[in-house]
Amino acid sequence: MIALDRTHTVAVIGAGTMGQGIAQVALVAGHRVRLYDAAPGSAERGAAAIAARLARLAEKGRMDAAERDAALARLAPAAALGELAGAALVIEAIIEDLPAKQRLFAELEDVVDDTCLLATNTSSLSVTAVAGALRRPGRFVGLHFFNPAPLLPLVEVVSAATTDEDAAGTAYATAAAWGKSPVRCTDTPGFIVNRIARPFYAEAFRLHEEAAADPATIDAVLRECGGFAMGPFELTDLIGHDVNEAVTRSVWESFFHDPKFTPSLAQRRLVESGLLGRKSGRGWFRYGDEEDRPLPAAAAPAPAPERVTVLGDLGPAAELVALMEEAGIPVDHEEDGPGAILLGDDDWLFLTNGGYATERGDSVIHFDLALDYRAATRTALAPGDTARPDAVRAAAGLFQALGKQVSVIEDVPGMIVARTVAMLVDLAADAVSKSVASPADIDTAMRLGVNYPLGPLEWGDRLGARWVCEVLTELHDSCPGGRYAPSPLLRRRTAADGKLF
Ligand SMILES: NC(=O)c1ccc[n+]([C@@H]2O[C@H](COP(=O)([O-])OP(=O)(O)OC[C@H]3O[C@@H](n4cnc5c(N)ncnc54)[C@H](O)[C@@H]3O)[C@@H](O)[C@H]2O)c1
Repeated sequence: MIALDRTHTVAVIGAGTMGQGIAQVALVAGHRVRLYDAAPGSAERGAAAIAARLARLAEKGRMDAAERDAALARLAPAAALGELAGAALVIEAIIEDLPAKQRLFAELEDVVDDTCLLATNTSSLSVTAVAGALRRPGRFVGLHFFNPAPLLPLVEVVSAATTDEDAAGTAYATAAAWGKSPVRCTDTPGFIVNRIARPFYAEAFRLHEEAAADPATIDAVLRECGGFAMGPFELTDLIGHDVNEAVTRSVWESFFHDPKFTPSLAQRRLVESGLLGRKSGRGWFRYGDEEDRPLPAAAAPAPAPERVTVLGDLGPAAELVALMEEAGIPVDHEEDGPGAILLGDDDWLFLTNGGYATERGDSVIHFDLALDYRAATRTALAPGDTARPDAVRAAAGLFQALGKQVSVIEDVPGMIVARTVAMLVDLAADAVSKSVASPADIDTAMRLGVNYPLGPLEWGDRLGARWVCEVLTELHDSCPGGRYAPSPLLRRRTAADGKLF
C-alpha cells in the first residue's frame, strides 16, 4: 500500500496534548499541516508550542536550523473547519466524547473531498461507532498514537467494521513513512495495548488485595524477577489512577463485565478519595515532602544449603541448575521426578504451578517465574502452610547464594510474575483467536506500547503453551469464576503441542 505523498496537506483537529504531538510528527515528515481547535486561540497556542519544541530540537542538534524553519513554514493554524478543505488526511484528537466526535466528522464530511482519508485518535471509543455518522465510512480509520506522539513509535491502525482495506492500508503506510512502527488491529475495546495490558495492573492489585505482599514488594518482584521496566503500582501512580482506572473500566464495560477485565476495588478507593498518584502527592505511595518509599520485603541473609537434589526437569526454571553449580552448591541429579529441588531430606522447592504450595504437598515452598534466572536480581518465595521455618531459610539462602534478593510472600496461587505473565499470554492468545491482530503485531504493540521485555506470545512460546495453560488451569481451580479460564486457543495449542507465535 502507498503512503500519502508528502505534497499533500494533513489536517489535525484538536490542538491539545495529542493533536500537537501528531501535528509535529506530520510536519517533521514533510507535510503541510493545518491545526484546528474549537476553543478560541487554542490552535495558535498549539502551533506556538510545536514551534518551541522544534526550536529545542534544533538547539540540541537533533534537527538542523534550516529543517526547523522549513517545517515551521509548513505549519498554519486554521480559524475555521472550512479551512481544512484541501487536506488529504484529517486526524481528529478532540475530547473523548462519542457525540462530539460524530458531530465533528458529520460536519467535516461537507468540507473535505470524497477522497480525503479520515482518522480518529480515540483511545477508548469504538471506531465503528465514531464512523456511524459518516455518509462514506469506508475512508475512516483509527490512528491511535501514544503520548508523547513525537517520541513513541507505536501507532495502532484500527479498522472499523466499515473501513475499506485501501484506507487502512494507506493509513498504515503513511504512519510507517512518518518513521512510526504501525500495527494493524480490528475495532475492539482497548485495541491491542489497552486490552492486553489490563492484567499487568489488575493482577498486582488483586495480589495486594489478597494480602500476598505489599505494593513495593510486588513492584520489585515484577521489575527484578519479571524483567518489567516499572512495577504496576509505581507506574499507575505515574499515569494517574483516574486515567488508568478509566481505561480499565471502559474495557470492562465494553466487554459486558467479562471477569477477565474486572477492575480493582483498591484502585477504585484511590480514585474516589482523590489519591490519584504523583500528581496529587499520594497514590499507592507518598510523594513530595512526605516522600517515603517503602522498601521491598527482603529475607535476612541465610546460609546456602550444603547440597541439593534436583529431581526431574525444572521446566522454565531449568537454568537454575547451572546457576547453583556455578555458585559452588553441590547438586545431585535424579532424572525422574516431579521437577523440584529437594533441600535436605524432605523440604521441597517448586516453581509455582499456579496453585497453592500448601496443596502441593507437605513442606513445599514455591518460587516465582523469572524472565531470565541468570539476570534476575530478586526472587519471591511462597512457603506453603506446612513448610518448616528452617526450610524457608534454606531456600532463601539458596537464592541468596545465586546473588538474588529474596522476598517471602504469602502462599497465593500463581505468585506474582507467573500469574501476571500467564494472564498476559492468555489475553494475547485470546486476541489472536478473535482475529484482533496478528501475533507479530500483538507482540510489537506490547513491546513498543508498554515497554514489555518480551511480546506476550513469544514469552508464552518460551515457557511453552502447556506450562502457561497448566498455571491458568490451577489458578482457575483456586479462583473459579472465569477470570483465569485458559483461552480456547491456548488450550488447542497445548493439546497440539504447537506454537503461539
Ligand atoms: N492524552 C493521551 O495520553 C492520549 C493518548 C492516546 C489517545 N488519546 C486520545 O486523543 C484525544 C485527545 O486527547 P488529548 O489528551 O490530546 O486531549 P486534550 O484535552 O489535551 O485536547 C483536546 C483538544 O480538543 C479541543 N476540542 C474539544 N472539542 C472540540 C471540537 N468539537 N472541535 C475541535 N476541537 C475540540 C479542545 O479545545 C482541546 O484543545 C482523545 O480522543 C484521547 O482519548 C489521548
